[in-house]
Order: sequence, then structure tokens, then C-alpha cells
Amino acid sequence: MTNQTRPDLSNQTILLLTGLVVIALIIALSPFLPGQPGSPIAQWAAATGVVALLAPILFSLLKRSGLSVNPPFWFVTHVISACIGVLFILFHAANGNWLSPPGAVMILMLFLIFQGALLRTSVSAQFSHLFARNSIASGFGKPESLDRNKLQVLIEYKQSTLARLEPCASEALFSPNLRHWITHPLLSLRYQRLISMEAEMIGARQGAGLIMAWSRRLHMLAATLFFLGLLAHVIVVLFFAGYAAGDGEIDWWYITAWGR
Ligand code: HEM
Repeated sequence: MTNQTRPDLSNQTILLLTGLVVIALIIALSPFLPGQPGSPIAQWAAATGVVALLAPILFSLLKRSGLSVNPPFWFVTHVISACIGVLFILFHAANGNWLSPPGAVMILMLFLIFQGALLRTSVSAQFSHLFARNSIASGFGKPESLDRNKLQVLIEYKQSTLARLEPCASEALFSPNLRHWITHPLLSLRYQRLISMEAEMIGARQGAGLIMAWSRRLHMLAATLFFLGLLAHVIVVLFFAGYAAGDGEIDWWYITAWGR
């Protein structure tokens, strides 16, 4: 972490966390771990993993509602907590059948870890260079047709709009969140349009900006599918335990055995 007010994750820390996940994955795939996913200890591991995996939902809600005073802290929490959750889930899933619907949910979870790490370490880094105002001023990443005077007028207009929308925010970093959209829909819309126009002007829609935007969308789509799959799995094993066990014994704690 870089400092106390704006925590961040270094590339080394991200590499370390993903390395831990890879080691846990190799152990889970090996025949050394005892027990089945339904054993009491594996079920406790699953429950602990699920709790840790709720952090990304909290991060998203806090970020989008504007309720968090420190979004970078919640970003770091979502990454660390997700990695810890994955370790518990891998322990839970060892010796299970990974070529099954719950196995697909787990593969989605692993994808999120590796794609998230790639997003943060490579694409975000390119993005921050592209967007650093100094880099534009110094000519780095400057599109040939950039009209500086027009850009200056646009930035001044952004600043005056922002002064009405969120007076204390920084124009280079701000984008409207749910609270702004609810309390000032027209100003938010205007500000969002100015952001798009600026991105268009400096060429951010091309190259790294485009990859970044699609990588984030992919991450969020995978996260949505993952949480839906996780919810479905939890509902099936707890309430439709008979269906999940098929012809075999229900050897885990459950609430109802519907589906037999
Ligand atoms: C199971 C694991 C994970 C889940 C379920 C998950 C989920 C999410 C969600 C829901 C968001 C969207 C937040 C929003 O509403 O904008 C998000 C954003 C993001 N995640 Fe993850 N994530 C996981 C792991 C990771 C990991 C391991 C990394 C990096 C090391 C990572 C990097 C990112 C990045 C860079 C963003 C965009 C942040 C932003 O735009 O401010 N994620 N993640």
C-alpha cells in the first residue's frame, strides 16, 4: 500500500496474491487434500469463502452509491478479500467434480482473479498514463488532431459544471455516481457527456482506453454471472439437496431435500 489516505496495491502484491491462488489451485487439484465438498470442515470453508467473497459486492455498492469516503480502500479490500475467499472455496471444492455446474461457477471465480489481476496491473497502468494530464501536455499519447484551445474550453466548462454538482471533487478524477444521478440528473447527464467529449477529443476511445473499458465490462459481467451462479449453487444444495445428491446419500448439512 502506498499511503494511509489512498491505499493501493502494488504489482508485486497482486502477483503474490495470484501466486497464492495458483498454489492453492495446484493443491486442490492434487489428490493430497482429504474429504469431500460436503464434509463439515469443507462446508465451513465454503461458508467462510462466501462471506469473504461478499466484499466485491460491498465495494460495488459503496462505489456506485457514493457512500464510501475512501473508495480506494474498498478496492483493495475487494481484491484481498476475494483472494482469501477463493482459497477457502478451493479447499471446499477439492475432490469434487469440477466438470459440473458448480465447477463452472468456480472456473468463473478463478477467471475473475486472473482477469482482475491483468486488468489492474497492465491495462489500468496504460490507462493512467494515457489520462495523466501532464502526459498530454508533454505530448505523450497526444492525438495528431488535438485542438488545445477547444480542450481548454471544454475543461473549463467541466469545472464550472462540477462546481455545482460536487464542489469539493477533482475534475480530472470525478465521474457521477448513483447519488448524483438521483439528486442532480440533468447536471450528471451534462457532466457525463462532457467526459465522453473529452475522451473523444484526446483519443481515449481508441487504444488503451477502449481495451480498459471492455476489460472492466468483462470483469463486471463475469462477476455478475459468478454471483448468480454462486447463489443458485447455495440454494440448490441447501433446499434441493435431494436433487443435488441424485441417487446418492445427502452427506452435507441442508435445510430441505426437495427434488428427490
Ligand atoms: C472473485 C473475485 C472477484 C470478484 C467477484 C470481483 C468483483 C468485482 C466487481 C463487482 C467490480 C465492479 C465494481 C463496480 O461496481 O464498478 C470489480 C471491479 C474491479 N475489480 Fe474485481 N473482483 C474480483 C477479483 C479481482 C481481483 C483479484 C482484481 C485485481 C487484482 C480485481 C480488479 C478489479 C478492478 C481493476 C476493478 C475496477 C475498479 C474500478 O473501476 O474502480 N478484481 N470487481
